[in-house]
Amino acid sequence: MENLLYIAHNLQNHLETLRQFTSTPGFGVTRLPFSKEARQAVDYIKDQMEQIGLRTWIDASGAVHGRLDGTEPDAPTILIGSHYDTVKSGGAYDGIAGIVSAIEVARILKENKVQMKYPLEIIATNDEEGITYGVCFLTSKALLGRWTITELKQLHDTAGESIYDAILRFGLDPNKIEDCKIDSLNVKCFIEIHIEQGPVLDSKGIQLGLVDCIAGLQRYRIQMIGKSNHAGSTPMDMRSDAVDASTKVISCISEWAKTEGGGTVATVGFMQVFPNALNTISGKTEWVLDCRSSDEEKIQHIVEKLTQKLEEVKSKTGVDYKIEPLVHVKPGYMNKELLEQLEKSCCTFGYSYQKIMSGATHDAHLMSEEVDTIMLFVPSKDGISHSPEESSKYEDLARAVYVVSDMISNLN
Ligand code: GLV
Ligand code: MN
Ligand code: MN
Repeated sequence: MENLLYIAHNLQNHLETLRQFTSTPGFGVTRLPFSKEARQAVDYIKDQMEQIGLRTWIDASGAVHGRLDGTEPDAPTILIGSHYDTVKSGGAYDGIAGIVSAIEVARILKENKVQMKYPLEIIATNDEEGITYGVCFLTSKALLGRWTITELKQLHDTAGESIYDAILRFGLDPNKIEDCKIDSLNVKCFIEIHIEQGPVLDSKGIQLGLVDCIAGLQRYRIQMIGKSNHAGSTPMDMRSDAVDASTKVISCISEWAKTEGGGTVATVGFMQVFPNALNTISGKTEWVLDCRSSDEEKIQHIVEKLTQKLEEVKSKTGVDYKIEPLVHVKPGYMNKELLEQLEKSCCTFGYSYQKIMSGATHDAHLMSEEVDTIMLFVPSKDGISHSPEESSKYEDLARAVYVVSDMISNLN
């Protein structure tokens, strides 16, 4: 095996280049799907895959694939990947660290002429975060054949552009989204290396985290519909104020999550006010509830309380509502046998590790519904993520590369 520091150095070079592809220089990394910065990342990733001798292509979801053939043409494929999109003013590691680590895994296997029975395919996925259209996992949903053209046309960003039109603008053909579908019987497994995005590993000084479960996630878009009117001349008892009604609902949400406990979290991180003018009573708000728990029932309780509260507020204020489900993924369980293999590889190198639950969602979450899946976490400094402060050590990522390369070489 190669020197750990050499791998760390390669990872650093990749990540330092990729962090420059941001629309918010100086304020973290912002690389939204189908943006100019996404194009720069796609071109860089494709080029790096080709430089190590992978066969590449870009699918209709905007994902970059790089494939290394195995010795047995009919053997199922090992998929390895993560996402290249980011949140707004996010960090330089979330998602992209898993892609460059996968490129290093493929390079090591190829340069060391490891005889691999299974083909290895890197997938650099697009729009895992889901902040532009409200729906996450653009590529993984495409891999599982779960998009319809109608949905791609319906979901749009705040400027009104649909996913369908964004794909076209990016130079791809949205009508081919169905061609992205994998044959899950022909997939050996899906592997994702990712930063932890939480404090557990860093605070305990543990080098690697073997994910056993990913918390379930549900997202709902709520519209509250009142009546726009003059902020000065409309008496308080004659208003239908969508902002006032929304705050009555939103202010309850944290308490509901705390009452459920067991690590349940609920967030309203996106809200739009219409017409958003300081001297006009708002006629409409639109906001998204993001709710997560390893216990599906706890999420369900919160959604029930939300619906009850919306009804109550409607009857008291006259402000109507619409609630639209955006995302529903059950808690995801990683494959036990493959986790044991990962554990063995950690032991081979003498790395410290622990089993860990993921509160954040990942492509691996959705993929685990249909294929054997594993995730490996590296520590996040001070547990900070979705922030410009996000940081992980290149040596820790290189350890993940070692472990995954070893595990893959020993798969039978
Ligand atoms: C993605 O990072 C998510 O957990 O929302
Ligand atoms: Mn993220
Ligand atoms: Mn991520």
